[in-house]
Amino acid sequence: MANKPVYLNGRYLPIEDAHISVLDRGFLFGDGVYEVIPAYRGRLFEFEAHMARLDNSLACIHIGNPHSLEEWRGIFAPLLEDGTDQYIYLQITRGAAPKRDHLFPEHVAPTVFALSAAIPPYPARGTGIKAVCLEDSRWEHCHIKAITLLANVLLRQEASEYGGAEAILIKNGFVTEGSSSNVFAVIDGVLLTPPLSDGILSGITRQVILKIAETGHIPCREQAISIEDLKRADEVWIASSIREIVAVVELDDLPVGDGKPGPVWQSMNRLFQAYKQSS
Ligand code: PDD
Repeated sequence: MANKPVYLNGRYLPIEDAHISVLDRGFLFGDGVYEVIPAYRGRLFEFEAHMARLDNSLACIHIGNPHSLEEWRGIFAPLLEDGTDQYIYLQITRGAAPKRDHLFPEHVAPTVFALSAAIPPYPARGTGIKAVCLEDSRWEHCHIKAITLLANVLLRQEASEYGGAEAILIKNGFVTEGSSSNVFAVIDGVLLTPPLSDGILSGITRQVILKIAETGHIPCREQAISIEDLKRADEVWIASSIREIVAVVELDDLPVGDGKPGPVWQSMNRLFQAYKQSS
């Protein structure tokens, strides 16, 4: 497993042999986008939704998608051959231009890199995590899954220094999302999540939760969540590929609800696991 090949610009290589130019715009400017796609038992999860989001991210930064849906499938297949639970990390940058210049270069092919890695066990999924509310210091383009993640990195690190496993970000008194997740809260018996118009990433796990809440008859709405409402929520969750759906049981050193993953999380997690198995 250690010697699993990675994909770089049309070739499968040992990771030690996968090199890019120091002039790559991903390296120089963070000029690129990415996707993280789980594959359960070797099958890509919500593949079309991830690829639709990739299309949107690429369009937002004016890079043409270098491959069709079926070509992407073909590129990922050799990385997933062992049929275990893994995820694909895919990164596309604007490529390596002959010189460093902020302007988009002409006639430069994008750099395409993909690897697969085992989905690590996440024992905290059962017990819940501690999270910390921090001011959302990110930019205006959070709907793009951009590799430009310095603000997210700093926020995640700051949360960790307070003992939190995630930062819940607050802008103008309202929740946006986590540093690498979307946020849900159960308030007055309704499952709420901030709307995409609040300038957040359209998480694929979020999309699945909204879909299965409806089929599972869990009352659910996309609605702005104030910090005050978050603090009185019966349940708070974060959601992302890899971590899936995780209850926040402690927020800013205070217990959420009774300090354990709540009943709505239990139901949703059951529905989500069943959905995973069936897809
Ligand atoms: N991040 N919001 C942000 C800012 C994220 O970085 C992520 C995921 C999500 C959830 O999206 P999804 O459900 O599609 O994973 C929301 C990935 C996992 C990462 O950066 O590693």
